[in-house]
Amino acid sequence: MLTIDNLELSITDPDTGRVSEILRGNSLTLAAGEALGLVGESGSGKSMTLQCVLGIEPPGSSVGGRIELEGRDLRALRGEELRRTRAEDLALIAQNPHSVLNPVLPVGKYLMEGMSEARSMPKARARLRSSELLRSVGIEESERVLRSYPHQLSGGMLQRVVIAGAISAQPKLLLADEPTTALDVTTQAEVAAILDEKRREAEMSMIFVSHDLDLAAAVCDRLAVMRYGELVEIGTPEEIRDAPQHEYTRELMNARPKLHPEEA
Ligand SMILES: Nc1ncnc2c1ncn2[C@@H]1O[C@H](COP(=O)(O)OP(=O)(O)OP(=O)(O)O)[C@@H](O)[C@H]1O
Ligand SMILES: [Mg+2]
Repeated sequence: MLTIDNLELSITDPDTGRVSEILRGNSLTLAAGEALGLVGESGSGKSMTLQCVLGIEPPGSSVGGRIELEGRDLRALRGEELRRTRAEDLALIAQNPHSVLNPVLPVGKYLMEGMSEARSMPKARARLRSSELLRSVGIEESERVLRSYPHQLSGGMLQRVVIAGAISAQPKLLLADEPTTALDVTTQAEVAAILDEKRREAEMSMIFVSHDLDLAAAVCDRLAVMRYGELVEIGTPEEIRDAPQHEYTRELMNARPKLHPEEA
């Protein structure tokens, strides 16, 4: 459903005129309903890859290559078609839920505004639907949460709200950029599991960016390893774990905290 072909990104510094090569001709494909984990160290180009898919790369960017969503050239879309594709087909879940939630609005308002159908829906119906959505991501006290402001809720709770909002729009492709990194370890696993479950139910494809190889392996069908702007290896979690082809992948595997040191 998604094809990235020879994606290149370079950014020119407006002050010095210096050009940095950020992405170096990467290609990958994503099947319908498939989840791909994008892993690699800080600065390797994971977030920039997602930004290119969304068409929101920073000023001074020059992008080469092709990105197709179900046969449509995403980077050629303009105007209304671009707006609709971003609103209906793609959804971004960012690392920090506070970056998407408005601090002065109760989260219920956020969910209702985000619901694509809500515009034509009576308010009471939209509220009921929001409540259902929250329960579907494991929030029992949905009425209280709907009335709460972001600062009154935990990070894990807020990220569930954002996931509920993203899923409700029924996008074809979820772009999750370290969606659990800001959470504590137990909550990370729970929120990743919710994301995984909801995505499968709705048969959405996903790119899941993470520093955490084990977490990505738990929720993804394949893993893609990035280093210095280059995609160095793609494979199933088992292939990456048992037979890493690239030296860097081996380093990444060895750098993982070991839960069972005797296995080393
Ligand atoms: N606005 C910008 N202008 C110029 N260069 C940028 C800009 N934003 C990011 N970069 C550079 O692009 C490269 C890739 O950054 P990116 O944010 O994609 O890394 P990442 O893999 O997501 O890292 P992290 O794991 O820390 O989030 C880095 O070298 C970064 O310094
Ligand atoms: Mg990033």
